[in-house]
Amino acid sequence: MKRGVIIAMCCCLLVIFKQRCVVQVSDLKVEGLTCDFRTNPIGIGNLKPRLSWKLSSQNPNQKQKAYQIIVASSEDLILADSGDLWNTGIIWSNQSLNISYCGEKLSPNQTCFWKVKVWDGEEIETHWSDVNFWTVGLVNQDNWQSSWIGLKQERYDSLISVKPWGNNMVLRKAYKTYPSVYLGHKFSTPKKVEKAIIYCTSLGVYTALINGKRVGSDFFTPGWTDYKKRVYYNTYDVTKMLHEGENAVAVMLANGWYAGTVANRGQNYYGNQPWFRAEIHLTYEDGSKKIITTDGEWKASVGAITEADMQGGETFDARLNNPSWGKANFNDSEWNFADIYDTLVSQINAYPSIGVQRIAELDPKEILKRENGTYLVDFAQNFAGWVGLTLKGESGDSVVIRYAEKLNSDGSLYTRNLRSARAMDTYVLSGDSSQYWEPKFTYHGFRFVEICGYRGELTKGDLKGIVVHTNLTETGRFECSNPLINQIYHNIYWSQKSNYIDVPTDCPQRDERMGWTGDAQVFMPTAAFNMNIAPFFNKWLVDIYDGQFENGRFPSTAPRVYNRVAAGWGDAGIICPWHFYQFYADTTILAKFYPSMQRWITHLENRSPTYISTLGSYGDWQNVESETPIPLLATAYFKRSVDLMSQISGVLSKRNDSIEYAGLSEKIKKAFTDSFLLDSGRIESETQTAYLLALAFDLVPRTERQQVVDNLKKSIYNADTSLTTGIIGTSLLLPTLTDIGETDLAYKLVLNTDFPSWGYQVKHGATTIWERWDGFTEDGFHEDSTNSLNHYAYGSVGEWFYSTIGGINALEPGFKKILIRPLPGGDLQYANVDYESSYGPISSHWKIENGFFYHTVSIPANTSAVIQLPNRQSDKIRIEDQPISESSLVKDVVAHDSHTTFEISSGEYHFSMPFDSN
Ligand code: BGC
Repeated sequence: MKRGVIIAMCCCLLVIFKQRCVVQVSDLKVEGLTCDFRTNPIGIGNLKPRLSWKLSSQNPNQKQKAYQIIVASSEDLILADSGDLWNTGIIWSNQSLNISYCGEKLSPNQTCFWKVKVWDGEEIETHWSDVNFWTVGLVNQDNWQSSWIGLKQERYDSLISVKPWGNNMVLRKAYKTYPSVYLGHKFSTPKKVEKAIIYCTSLGVYTALINGKRVGSDFFTPGWTDYKKRVYYNTYDVTKMLHEGENAVAVMLANGWYAGTVANRGQNYYGNQPWFRAEIHLTYEDGSKKIITTDGEWKASVGAITEADMQGGETFDARLNNPSWGKANFNDSEWNFADIYDTLVSQINAYPSIGVQRIAELDPKEILKRENGTYLVDFAQNFAGWVGLTLKGESGDSVVIRYAEKLNSDGSLYTRNLRSARAMDTYVLSGDSSQYWEPKFTYHGFRFVEICGYRGELTKGDLKGIVVHTNLTETGRFECSNPLINQIYHNIYWSQKSNYIDVPTDCPQRDERMGWTGDAQVFMPTAAFNMNIAPFFNKWLVDIYDGQFENGRFPSTAPRVYNRVAAGWGDAGIICPWHFYQFYADTTILAKFYPSMQRWITHLENRSPTYISTLGSYGDWQNVESETPIPLLATAYFKRSVDLMSQISGVLSKRNDSIEYAGLSEKIKKAFTDSFLLDSGRIESETQTAYLLALAFDLVPRTERQQVVDNLKKSIYNADTSLTTGIIGTSLLLPTLTDIGETDLAYKLVLNTDFPSWGYQVKHGATTIWERWDGFTEDGFHEDSTNSLNHYAYGSVGEWFYSTIGGINALEPGFKKILIRPLPGGDLQYANVDYESSYGPISSHWKIENGFFYHTVSIPANTSAVIQLPNRQSDKIRIEDQPISESSLVKDVVAHDSHTTFEISSGEYHFSMPFDSN
């Protein structure tokens, strides 16, 4: 045999041998692992955390047929594919979200390493995902060994009586601000530390330092809760911050929500001074352990932060700043020993959300030096946060920074709408060379700042705007050919950023900043498209339930600082978990709060023998001279909550409950019809909101529905084709118009720039959503001081941008099954809309060009979608340049009156069809 032939035969044999030996691996990638909605969370309190992952692939039509999770107690074990804590084995299921950990019992302080692999539609196995981890916190109160410590200062109980709304506000007594408490402790670590975890909590807000360096990047820790019921603790890995030998731990502690100005309740609402509690759990390299705890050995004093109040602002006297404070060489011999606070906070739980952090820095757009030597700085964007300054000057010079959202006509700051929030920071210079400073324990809602008392020349490089909010991942993107809609979208996003600060607040600037439940529930779908709000609501839902009254009523603010209960607000206790489930497919949230939800319904039922709800309400808040009667609104929301309860019980397999709630719903509907449906499909009061409630919450018999629809349209035309709705009606307006086939009318409203409209706010310079349609007009500011220029509630329209302009909708919870239904309208020539769902990215990008509609759609692996395109001639629709009827990528093509629907599986697809814009 020739040599060449022999070589060729050997090569063939080698190839055959290789093919036999290579295990086929799926091209699916398992990534984006989360544990209780966070990536590698540390110090979690849930011992059965929810594990989720995403799948991605270059190829279309990808599914998960099975999965395997392993969880190990060490990195070595997980790398050796051994799950000593949990090994699910192969589970034949397509579930990839919220699989509750069910392995070995976990103990405090434990680290769990985990990874996942899946089997694709062909039952071919993927590689393992990267290794992720979570660590368990101190879990429960009994595991805390430290004491609450602080520094007793002379305090007074504030006497504040304020009427929060309207012009007749009784001015509260000027509040007193207090210096921050400084706490410190030195300790030695004689051996090399392998691991050091600090657990910190406070009644108040704190910043902790180890060896002079800040621990973590969170602000206002440990967040706002109903401190009488619960306080959270934060967990940080500080291993790298310690060294062998002498170390120091130090804390700056301020009143925060606990004892400082909170909501519109003034100061000392929960307590009259702040307290701190922490422990550092050390594991040495030799395996031995030690715990450093807060106790009476700690030292306490006051320092350079001479006042700190959430709403009032902060003063920093740089002359009092000792740079060695917080370090092991600091001389604390003249400091007092810390005071001990002997209290029982009912629960100390692991912080379940993500911290408030510095998210971005804005450069000033313009600086104006006024004749009197003061400076006016414009950041060209309304936002929440503060300014950071680099200053130099004489020792003792006080530089005062005041904040405002807008200017009065004479160029002065418009501060009337701050009401009693002082919103002022002060920096007292030390005389040393240039110093950078920013506050720690306050935030402001502003676009403009005024700087007084600075004798140097202020330039743009000397200051920046620090944007602060809960650090949630942005998940939404929207852009279209119409600049007005883009600006409205921008304003919505910025109002969300400014108000998602540990709790969803109404506004960031005035003496309110409360978690109004009504505002939060109407805005939640928009918020969930914009950002991954799961960790945030995982915390805030607890605030709602902590605020539930004995008799079952849900509060109108959470944390609860108000005893008034309101329809449309309290219902957030049912509506918000439902939205949570729709966006994140998590049933544990529904199960956890189900008994509380039932108590709310039972309360409403007990007090409504005729099925007309007698609950009070703030009504259709901020409507335009178009009051909807409270009993009508309250009964509509009663029905809405009961309907959701029927669905929730269904999800939780509580069949009997579900049937019972469905029966109750029918009774409410009948009572509503009997009481509020007048002749010819008119609804009492004939406001747009009354019609919207009736249609959106299914409150009128089918036979009269068309008349009600006609009357809704009439009510819009009668108002010069404009809206008259407040925050309740506005959230239903465009989605309902689309549901009844009036998307063109919806476009007219959203493109309107006359009063009242979103466009009117934009025309008047809004960079965020306002509380009122007419917060600022040609005639100046609204006369009422309750006039926030950064209030997200009307921003609920954002949901329609995603679900109608982009057409992205969930057909199944978590977007497991997606409806892509873009409805072009107005003068829009294109729209690019993206949403990063729990399964992965969903996109809907369309454009109209030369009489054609081009549409690019992306659907993540392990999901499928129904596509609905606005052309009834299905034979004219092409996918990848082939008629859909001939393509194997598409199934179940159905032509309807005005559109065609069909199904696709995961992947990216390009559609085109003739399109007549008229
Ligand atoms: C808030 C609103 C809230 C309302 C209750 C206001 O002061 O700013 O957004 O929903 O009170 O009616």
